[in-house]
Amino acid sequence: MSRPADNDRRHELCLGIETSCDETAMALVHHGRLLAEVIASQADVHALFGGVVPEIASREHYRMLGPLLDTLLGQAHVAPGDIDVVAVARGPGLLGSLLTGLCFAKGLALGLNATLVGVDHLHAHLLAPGLEQELLFPALGLLVSGGHTHLYVLEDAVTLRLLGRTLDDAAGEAFDKVARTLRLPYPGGRYIDELGQLGRVMPELFPRPYIDNQNLDFSFSGLKTAVATYVNAHPAMLPPPGCAPQTLLQEADRYPGLADTCASFNYAVADTLRIKTERALRQARHVRSLIVAGGVAANRRVREVMTGVAREASLTLSMPSPRFCTDNGAMIAWAGECLFRAGLHHDCALDAIPRGQTVPFDYLRAAGQAS
Ligand code: KG4
Ligand code: ZN
Repeated sequence: MSRPADNDRRHELCLGIETSCDETAMALVHHGRLLAEVIASQADVHALFGGVVPEIASREHYRMLGPLLDTLLGQAHVAPGDIDVVAVARGPGLLGSLLTGLCFAKGLALGLNATLVGVDHLHAHLLAPGLEQELLFPALGLLVSGGHTHLYVLEDAVTLRLLGRTLDDAAGEAFDKVARTLRLPYPGGRYIDELGQLGRVMPELFPRPYIDNQNLDFSFSGLKTAVATYVNAHPAMLPPPGCAPQTLLQEADRYPGLADTCASFNYAVADTLRIKTERALRQARHVRSLIVAGGVAANRRVREVMTGVAREASLTLSMPSPRFCTDNGAMIAWAGECLFRAGLHHDCALDAIPRGQTVPFDYLRAAGQAS
């Protein structure tokens, strides 16, 4: 990662700030190119409690934001005054966590006379593959993260239409809750992925939830319960509490059925995502590509299944590399740059949007931009 050549700087150096959950992340993007990124994960702190503790998350963001900015600027050999756009995740997320990021971003934008752009965290996830390949619009977007399982049509980089959403647990939440049942550490999605690679899929072991309807919504809570019931009936598969995941991966055959349960649950989630995505594609026939993004897009079986869906539909597939699937600052900076280029920005009235609420499209338009 390097500093942009001075003659390449056309006043669009964009800083992205992400504090919506338990990662404090920042990145600098210039014309779609990632210059530098930093991330401080709080996963170890929250793992002690088996899930994110909001008050601790806010304090950790507040503690980390300043030092991370210094590190980022040092890495990119950029002075604060070089920043033209300050993009910040404004929700949905944990309110206290978002507020730390928003206050920091507003102060920076004011102090540096930079443009402030509030970014919908979900929108940023969907645009993330654009850091590595050109996105083709219109696109069908499947966002699968810890808090959301949403299907969208993206008419262009800044125009999104929601087609379907999770009615209860999101896919990532189901992964994390099943992982907890299996005594895997939080967040357990990636351990289920890894253990599942060692196991055998039993396609009929768990149901594909909420598919016998015509809609594009999701519901994963019944699947989570089905796994819990199965595990209760087969307790020999449970590792001892606190067993290190690396040990578990090396000694998986000591826990009969554990790897097969992970493989079969993972299969049920991926197959459900496939069924609803194919249904959405039958409705949105004008799309040219399929975007799959969010933390669960790092899952190997989900990637494999979605590769098949795109191939069958003759669509270009855009999935971020695993490091851009989970929360990161680069996706916020890049989405901020796309919005800024479309003439959209905010002023200091920008508000944080908590989990469960829809992020409004309340951008101000640069002079001369049509509404
Ligand atoms: O997008 P993300 O980082 O945060 C939210 O916006 O929610 O997603 C985090 C979620 C967690 O539930 C985590 O367990 C899940 O993504 N995840 C995975 C994998 N890597 C992360 N789930 C399944 N397989 C993975 N490899
Ligand atoms: Zn996220």
